[in-house]
Amino acid sequence: MLPKILVVDDDRYTRTLIEQLMRQSAEVHLAESGQAARQLFAAIDFNLVLMDQRLPQDKGLDLLRELRLQRPKLVAILITGFADVRDAVAAVREGLFDYLTKPFEDLEALEAVIGKALELDRAYREIDSLRSRLAVESGAPHIIGQSPTMERLLGQIREVAGLDTTVLLEGESGTGKDVIAKLIHAWSQRASQPYLEVNCGGLPESLLESLLFGYEKGAFTGASQATPGYFEKAHNGNLFLDEIADMSPKLQSSLLRVLQDHSFCRIGSTQPRSTDFRLICATNRALVGEVKAGRFREDLYYRINVVALSLPPLRERAGDIIRLAVHFLDRYNIKFGKQCGPFTPQAVRALEACPWPGNVRQLQHCIERVVALEPGGIIDVNHLGSTCDCRSEPDLTNSGTPSQTPAYQEARAEFERDYLRCVLDAAKGNISEAARLSGIPRQNLYVRMKRWGFVTD
Ligand SMILES: Nc1ncnc2c1ncn2[C@@H]1O[C@H](COP(=O)(O)OP(=O)(O)O)[C@@H](O)[C@H]1O
Ligand SMILES: [Mg+2]
Repeated sequence: MLPKILVVDDDRYTRTLIEQLMRQSAEVHLAESGQAARQLFAAIDFNLVLMDQRLPQDKGLDLLRELRLQRPKLVAILITGFADVRDAVAAVREGLFDYLTKPFEDLEALEAVIGKALELDRAYREIDSLRSRLAVESGAPHIIGQSPTMERLLGQIREVAGLDTTVLLEGESGTGKDVIAKLIHAWSQRASQPYLEVNCGGLPESLLESLLFGYEKGAFTGASQATPGYFEKAHNGNLFLDEIADMSPKLQSSLLRVLQDHSFCRIGSTQPRSTDFRLICATNRALVGEVKAGRFREDLYYRINVVALSLPPLRERAGDIIRLAVHFLDRYNIKFGKQCGPFTPQAVRALEACPWPGNVRQLQHCIERVVALEPGGIIDVNHLGSTCDCRSEPDLTNSGTPSQTPAYQEARAEFERDYLRCVLDAAKGNISEAARLSGIPRQNLYVRMKRWGFVTD
C-alpha cells in the first residue's frame, strides 16, 4: 500500500510540485487551508504531513502542534520561507521531523527528505504493531532487520532453522549472534525442547569441560553429587556454543568426538551416553584464519561449518539503524517509565552516520543511556553526543569497493557538510563573511549550517 502524504500549502505551485514529485510513490492529498487540512486529517491516517508555515488563517507550526495532540507520533515537515528560519528551528526543537525552505532548489534533496520522513513513520508503526503482537505471542526474540541484507539473512535462517543441520554464525561482536541463535531455536522443530547456551570464551577449560560433559560424584574435588552436563540437558533440543574459537585445543578434540559419535561420557565415568542435540556455534573471528594460524582444528571446522551465516556489521545495514533506535527507544521508555523522543532530524542523521564499531549492542546502550538520563522530550544530537560517541564520520576516503561507495545523495551531503565547515573556518565563524566567500545567500547559508549543526542560536 502506498504511503499517504498530506500537503498543506496555499500556494498552488508548491502543492502541485510535491504532488508531481511524489505521486508515483505515495498517495498525495492536497489542502490549501488549515481548515481543509483538519478535515482531511480527521478522515485519513496520514504517514506524513508537509505543512506550510504561512497559511491564510493559520500558522503552520500551531496547526502541526494541534494535529500532534491527536497523533503524538505524527511525522511532519514544516515548509518555510527563508525569512522564517526561527520557526523552522522551533519546529526542529519540537521534534517535528524536518523543515524545508522554499523555494525548493533541489528536487532530489526534497525527495530524499520526504523519503527519510516516511521511513521514520514506518519505524514507529512497526514498533506499535510489534508491541500489540508481542502481547499475544511470545517466545521468539524479536529481530529488527528490514534492510536487504538482513531480509536475505532472515530468509536463509527460516530455511535452515527447520532442518537439523549445524549452523555457524559469524559476525563482529554485537551484530546479534546470540539473538539469531535463539531465533533458530524458536523456529526449529525442537522449539519446545531445551535450549542451552554457553560462552566458550568466558570460562576456564576445566569448568567449561564439566559444564558440557557433566560429572559423576567424586570425579574431582568439589564434585559432591552427580551432575548432568549440557550435552545431556540439550538432548532433543539445541545447544549454542558461543565464541567457539576460544575453545581450548583439548576441548576442541573432545567436542569433535561427541559430534562424530553422538555420545560422550561424564567426567569420572566410562559409560557412554548417547545424545541428540542440534549444534549452533558462533564466533566473532574468521574461523578460517584461526584454522590457518593453527589455533582451530581443521576437522572440527569442517564439522561445524555446514551452514555458515554471516551477520553484517550495523554500518553495512544503514536502513536498520533508525528502526533499531526507535525499537530500543520504545523498549527503554517502557522499562524506565519515560516518554523520550522522538529523535530530531539531526539526531537521526548522527545515528545513521555513526560507524557503530560495537554494532547493535552499542546502539542499544546508547539509547538506554539517553532514556535513563533524560527527563523526557525530544532527543537531539547533543543528547546522543554526551552519552555515546556517535559523531565520528564514516571514512569516505578509501571507498574502493562497490559496497563502500556511498550513494550519490550521501556523497553530496558529505560534500556539503565538508564544504560548509571549510567555509565557516575560513570566515572564522562569521556567517556574513562565509556567505560572501561562498556566494550563497546569507539566509540560505544559515539554514544549511543549522542543518549540519554548525551554528546554534
Ligand atoms: N536485529 C536485532 N533486532 C533487535 N535487537 C537486536 C538485533 N541484533 C542484536 N540485537 C540486540 O543487541 C544486543 C547484542 O546482540 P547479541 O546477539 O548479544 O550480539 P553478539 O552475540 O553478536 O555479540 C542484544 O541485546 C540483542 O538483543
Ligand atoms: Mg554474543
